[in-house]
Amino acid sequence: MCGIIGIVGTQPVEARLIESLKRLEYRGYDSAGVAGVVDGRIERRRAAGKIRALEEVLAGEPLAATVGIGHTRWATHGAPSVRNAHPHTQGRVTLVHNGIIENFLELRERLEAAGRTFESDTDTEVIAALLDSELGMGKPPVEALKATLDQLAGAYALAVLIAGEDAMILGARRGSPLVVGHGQGEMFLGSDALAVGPFTQRVCYLEEGDFVALSHGAAAIYDADGRPVERAVRTVPASAALVEKGNYRHFMEKEIHDQPEGCQRTIAAYVDTLTGRTDISGGIDFAGLSRIQIVACGTSYIAGLMGKYLIEQFADLPVDVEIASEFRYRHPALRPDGLVVAMSQSGETADTLAALRYCQGKGMKSAAVVNATESTMAREVDVVWPIHCGPEIGVASTKAFTAQVAVLTALAIAAARARGKIDAAEEQRMVRLLLEAPRLVAESIKLEDAVRAVAQEVSKARDVLYLGRGPMYPLALEGALKLKEISYIHAEGYAAGELKHGPIALVDEQTPIVILAPFDSYFEKSASNMNEVMARGGQVVFITDADGERHAPSGARVVVTAPRCDPLVAPLVYAPPIQLLAYHVAVLKGADVDQPRNLAKSVTVE
Ligand code: F6R
Repeated sequence: MCGIIGIVGTQPVEARLIESLKRLEYRGYDSAGVAGVVDGRIERRRAAGKIRALEEVLAGEPLAATVGIGHTRWATHGAPSVRNAHPHTQGRVTLVHNGIIENFLELRERLEAAGRTFESDTDTEVIAALLDSELGMGKPPVEALKATLDQLAGAYALAVLIAGEDAMILGARRGSPLVVGHGQGEMFLGSDALAVGPFTQRVCYLEEGDFVALSHGAAAIYDADGRPVERAVRTVPASAALVEKGNYRHFMEKEIHDQPEGCQRTIAAYVDTLTGRTDISGGIDFAGLSRIQIVACGTSYIAGLMGKYLIEQFADLPVDVEIASEFRYRHPALRPDGLVVAMSQSGETADTLAALRYCQGKGMKSAAVVNATESTMAREVDVVWPIHCGPEIGVASTKAFTAQVAVLTALAIAAARARGKIDAAEEQRMVRLLLEAPRLVAESIKLEDAVRAVAQEVSKARDVLYLGRGPMYPLALEGALKLKEISYIHAEGYAAGELKHGPIALVDEQTPIVILAPFDSYFEKSASNMNEVMARGGQVVFITDADGERHAPSGARVVVTAPRCDPLVAPLVYAPPIQLLAYHVAVLKGADVDQPRNLAKSVTVE
């Protein structure tokens, strides 16, 4: 979950390392560091905190190098401090690492017994020490690297400088992604295409176990067994390399506002606007499937849960949704005639990837709903369903969530048609509803002023409850997750019917209760829950539509009136108000919206 960059350049690298680290900051931002070859020696600059702290260090002590590596850290072993910040040095070796070395204690004890001393608490320094020892035995760099990698258990992406090898960077990946970028007489190594995006769009994705030696203009790649291999060089779209905040204060704010366009792109990819038919199968025979197993984490899991409601309702196809970190270890009963769908914005989440591979091992066909189309998941599945919403930088997922839900809505319609649950006319009607969704999402974003006023109240709360029924239940979970993540206010989402089975005990005059209740078949029940809450002094924020407002019991503290919409697209239309609520509460509390504490955008460790 850290970010890595390496440049074998012909021009100075300091500013470019920083530019790249800023793009990678979404992967972690506890500390950062760079190292480069200066007059034949390797020098390091490191700082605790965000990249701007490192920039201050560099302002006082520039790094005049043309070959260098950089790192932004999300701490796993060892507190976030300068001492634990990467790059780590042992003897001739200076390196940066993303991942977790599981046997590091055992390795460290062995190295200490042989006389090594360590300056940090990290697992990473052990890799540097091992490699330095291998070099000390007289092995050439590539051979020494292979011998080092063979001793490591766990996950890693590495970028390595070796003193005396002035125009070389070594790299390796297992479990954590790494790309090689091809420039004009310069070579790059990065955690993703975004990292090398400002310098080149020609990239090559290293495969599991690969390691590489970069020099000026060349990359010698080896597979896990040390055999030289070729990996295809592709040109990635410029959009993957171009990410700006525009006039918005935060990426999250921009990404919330991007949603109408994002959804439009997503929907356009999966429906034929002329015929009104869905176009999503990618070779999957929905009629022949016995069930779908969705595996995911966090917000992607919640999108998957929304998919269950939609697919089971319309296509009468059983869908199980499970948190990947549980699923992968509990020996679930699976049959080969099912389809596993990995939901993941990044396509790299370690637990989701492991759960996906588990299902593939059971002979299931596989699909991935991803944003990063060059990610590991996208490359390992039978069918990729990209969400097409463009890079999401804010750590709290917003536009990727609605895009994921849009894909699953199209999938529900396609599966319903393939399974004979709806006829062509009904498919066209549903597709038309879906095509109207971006406009309604835009309407819903216009609730921002009303939501900002609610945020004033919510920002003073210690706890907040979110309630919903049907598809509004997953949205209640998402509302609570968003608020927790970025404002640090304790929040829980519940199925409204569960209220009286426990959570109602939390209700008092200080607790805002956000009830999501479009005027649909669940409305009466949600209104009863609203009464129960108000009878106990609860302060209700009722998010409904104009019909719901007319039929709602009186006494809500605030009513937010969303656009009227068909239940098919209500999950998309009701998402912006809860995202905006979390956003404005976080802004009012002065929180770091795009980079909330302890979180990282891409979780490539379990
Ligand atoms: C929350 C959030 C996370 C991610 C989760 C999975 O706002 O973004 O909960 O959804 O870490 O990440 P992906 O979708 O990349 O697998």
